[in-house]
Amino acid sequence: MIEREETNIPKTVLSPSSGNNETTFEVGLRPQTLNEFVGQDDIKQNLSIFIEAAKKRGEPIEHVLLYGNPGLGKTTLAHIIANEIGSQIRVTSGPAIEKVGDLAAIISNLGRGDVLFIDEIHRLNKTIEEILYPAMEDYALDIIVGKGPTARTLRLSLEKFTIIGATTRLSLLSSPLRDRFGVTHHLNFYTEDDIKKILKRSAKILHVEVDPEAFTLLSTRSRRTPRIANRLLRRVRDFAQVKSDGCVTNELCADALEMLNVDHEGLDQTDRRILETIIEKFSGGPVGLSTIAAATQEEIETIEEVHEPFLLQIGFLDRTPRGRIVTENAYKHLKRDIPTTRLL
Ligand SMILES: Nc1ncnc2c1ncn2[C@@H]1O[C@H](COP(=O)(O)OP(=O)(O)OP(=O)(O)O)[C@@H](O)[C@H]1O
Ligand SMILES: [Mg+2]
Repeated sequence: MIEREETNIPKTVLSPSSGNNETTFEVGLRPQTLNEFVGQDDIKQNLSIFIEAAKKRGEPIEHVLLYGNPGLGKTTLAHIIANEIGSQIRVTSGPAIEKVGDLAAIISNLGRGDVLFIDEIHRLNKTIEEILYPAMEDYALDIIVGKGPTARTLRLSLEKFTIIGATTRLSLLSSPLRDRFGVTHHLNFYTEDDIKKILKRSAKILHVEVDPEAFTLLSTRSRRTPRIANRLLRRVRDFAQVKSDGCVTNELCADALEMLNVDHEGLDQTDRRILETIIEKFSGGPVGLSTIAAATQEEIETIEEVHEPFLLQIGFLDRTPRGRIVTENAYKHLKRDIPTTRLL
């Protein structure tokens, strides 16, 4: 059966954020162990030593903070860590914890060594964050009972547990919270080789036959992001099932990508529009983010979280104190003449 998700695809096929029901597909493709997790070698090495050492001491691991762009594997890694230490994992997120009581209920039910995964931890509200401080540091929960002059604080002790926090926006995390994590890892964009490995692994799981050149094509257009790679693979698989015998050949893959409007650098229409706007209306920059947003009619957050990180990563955009500028490589990619002032 062909799985379809047309009704809930994210805004563009290249968005690094997941679509509504996409998680169902992602769970099946999610690596379970550090060994299966492709790339991010430094992080894997550090984590395996860190896990091994805690196991030897017979102690729960320290709190871990994972940050990086959407779709790079934070949630996957959190589950892997819990799996590798043989712990139970409870999953929640910053916006889901609305009241102090919500958090108290969750953490007072954790057993020794359990992992609490808090996704989007930068969206925790302040009062809840403050309850977390003693919980993370002293494994204690301070609860205020009563009101007014008779109010007093009750301190409940908790089992030694581990929080794994994930965020796409480290700068929005308060420094007291940041400081309470024993280790912080930054997930970077993947190399194209690693993306190819991820694609091969996923193709095997999904039982899709893909030509070697098609793997190369897909890996260069996935914006160095595993989620996008897996999504493009599923789209191309659909295309192959409808247009041919299901085998993803190089030609078919190129046609499918063309239809999805993904160019050979992995840029979509919006990326191109952003670059073209800066070139046409602002002579290539520097120009501020909010001006770009207004001129392209995109939201600032979308540009900041979806488009800009990748354009910076591949060197098509530069960030300067006076604003964003389009680089010469971007001019070349868009087949535009580089202004002579740039060549001086
Ligand atoms: N290193 C990897 N090896 C293989 N597959 C990976 C890897 N990293 C991520 N993936 C795949 O990419 C998908 C997205 O990863 P994940 O959900 O962990 O990203 P995330 O960083 O939590 O994103 P978000 O910020 O949107 O929550 C997963 O379903 C998984 O299959
Ligand atoms: Mg996640």
